[in-house]
Amino acid sequence: MPEHDTIKMLAFDPRDHAPQDIYKLMVGSIVPRPIAFVSTMDANGIANLAPFSFFTAASANPAVVCFCPMVRRVGSPKKDTLRNIEETGEFVVNIVSGEFAEKMNACAAEVAPEIDEFELSGLTPLASQLVRPPRVAESRVQMECRLLQLVRVSDKPMGGTLVLGEVLRFHVREGLVEEFRIDPAGLNAIGRMAGKTYARTTDRFDMERPL
Ligand SMILES: Cc1cc2nc3c(=O)[nH]c(=O)nc-3n(C[C@H](O)[C@H](O)[C@H](O)COP(=O)(O)O)c2cc1C
Repeated sequence: MPEHDTIKMLAFDPRDHAPQDIYKLMVGSIVPRPIAFVSTMDANGIANLAPFSFFTAASANPAVVCFCPMVRRVGSPKKDTLRNIEETGEFVVNIVSGEFAEKMNACAAEVAPEIDEFELSGLTPLASQLVRPPRVAESRVQMECRLLQLVRVSDKPMGGTLVLGEVLRFHVREGLVEEFRIDPAGLNAIGRMAGKTYARTTDRFDMERPL
C-alpha cells in the first residue's frame, strides 16, 4: 500500500462540470444505495409506483424516512411520485427483494401519469391500512408514510427535492422478524450501484463495535 502522500487524488469542482457528470460521480461513489419502491395515488385514484435510490432513514423517533425525486430535464414535468405526494401527502415505501427486481425496473419507465405501474409490471396492489396508496404485496417490508416535509434542494435539471415522510405503520412479512430484528437473508434486499448495475446483500460480514 503506497503512503498517502504518494497517492494522487483527482479534484473535481461540481461548478466546473456538467450535472450529468457530477451525477455519475455521486452514483458511482455513494454505493450501494437502498431502493425505496414508492407507491402513491393521484387525486383521481390512479396508483403510481416508482423506484428511488436516493433513499435513507432520517429518524427513528419519530420514524422518518426520506427519498429524492429529481428533475429530469429543462422544463420537464415533475415526476408523478412527487406530484402525487404534493397533492395527497401520502405514500408507501416498499423494500425491493431480488425476486422481483425486474418488475421493479419495469416501473422506472417514463410513462404517462394515467398509466398504473402495478398493471404495467404485474406487481400486486395490497390495500394499506392508514393511507390510500396501496402497498406492493410482493415486498417483504412496507412502510405506510405521511408527508412530513418537502425540501426543494434545486429545481434545476438533475436537481432534487427531499421528501421526508413519517412512517405511520410498518408491515413485515411473517417469519422475517424476531424481536424487531429483520432477517437479512429472508429479506434479500438489493441495492443500486451506477447505471444498470445492482448489488445483492448476500455477501455480509460482522464486526464488533469498540466499547
Ligand atoms: C433502481 C432505480 C433507482 C432510481 N432512483 C431514482 C432517484 O433516486 N431519484 C429519481 O428522481 N429517479 C430515480 N430513478 C428513476 C425513476 O424511477 C423514474 O424516473 C421513474 O419513471 C419516476 O416515476 P414517476 O414519474 O412515476 O414518479 C430510479 C430508477 C431506478 C431503476
